[in-house]
Amino acid sequence: DKGGWSSFMAKEVSEEPDAVANTLRGRVRDGHVVIPELDGMDELFTNVSRIIVIACGTAAYAGLVGKYALEQWTRIPVDVELAHEFRYRDPVLDPGTLVVSISQSGETMDTLMAVKYARERGAKTLSICNTQGATIPRESDAIVYTHAGPEVAVASTKAFVAQITALYLLGLHIARVRGWARSGTEESMQVLELEAIPGKIARILEREQERIEQLAHWMADTRSVLFLGRHVGYPIALEGALKLKELAYIHAEGFAAGELKHGPIALIEPGQPVFVIVPSPRASADMHKKVVSSIQEIRARGARVIAIAEEGDVAVLPFADEVLRIPLAEPLFEPLLAVVPLHIFAMALATAKGLDVDQPRNLAKSVTVE
Ligand code: M6R
Repeated sequence: DKGGWSSFMAKEVSEEPDAVANTLRGRVRDGHVVIPELDGMDELFTNVSRIIVIACGTAAYAGLVGKYALEQWTRIPVDVELAHEFRYRDPVLDPGTLVVSISQSGETMDTLMAVKYARERGAKTLSICNTQGATIPRESDAIVYTHAGPEVAVASTKAFVAQITALYLLGLHIARVRGWARSGTEESMQVLELEAIPGKIARILEREQERIEQLAHWMADTRSVLFLGRHVGYPIALEGALKLKELAYIHAEGFAAGELKHGPIALIEPGQPVFVIVPSPRASADMHKKVVSSIQEIRARGARVIAIAEEGDVAVLPFADEVLRIPLAEPLFEPLLAVVPLHIFAMALATAKGLDVDQPRNLAKSVTVE
């Protein structure tokens, strides 16, 4: 039931705040992360020497975001790999390897086969999944469910923010078990940040939705859109591009902003729309400056720049054609906010083109063949 919304996707994007809140519910207590599903796994988390995240599509981008937080908090090296690539390259696996799979449906065949492969070769497996009792969690040693609620639209939206939330909870949990140099206060600071995310997403939906829809309307004839991001903004650029491809059937590509001068800048011609996810200057003044200078470079070549920047960042104003605002958050948590305007944009552009946003052509909600 669409509950009065024009599409399941519109309903599910509006549920992004709840997806995060429900994934956190019952898992934070007095500033600490508590995941009862992981009781009895302390020894594994203490001894693990490597984490490999496997997933496909949007779930893999959630994994890429999670890598930054997991490495920062746990100091365990994390690789993120597409499930279908992983098992055809003879990966190095041993009992010290924890393979974390991410899947909304829990039925994606590529991911399932990779989990089985990892298990057969002695790795421990943990599944982050949105569907209770699905095949992938049943094949895994441990499960952390996301509680995004049923996702019907083919494009994954609320499950994505729930997946990042679950990875962050897992990261904080493992960090504490390993007694890593992070004090309890630091853990509670991160927990507070997580708890503030639903309200901040709601604010973006409230304040920016209409403007993004108008922007999409103006851009209905656009043939190509580029997305740039840096650090945790990079996987968000990839996610923004994937959503636009699958929903609006136009060429879209995401790049690491620093990669621009190594090739992609050749694509910039007058009128080319480019979304740029601007990292907070509080994360790193240097990185912020570099992204602003990337904006200047593409603008000088005629690009039409749509910046996604935190409230109060005025450095982008002279160079961007449009600035979409996200509330302030600690840098690692910005992806949970920056992705929201991109989900709205892809949906709005497809709608402006008269396309069915819930059932894009050639795609299935869960890909049960390899
Ligand atoms: O059910 P899963 O999370 O395993 O699905 C993985 C991908 O097929 C999925 O995220 C796909 O990329 C979405 N249609 C993207 O919106």
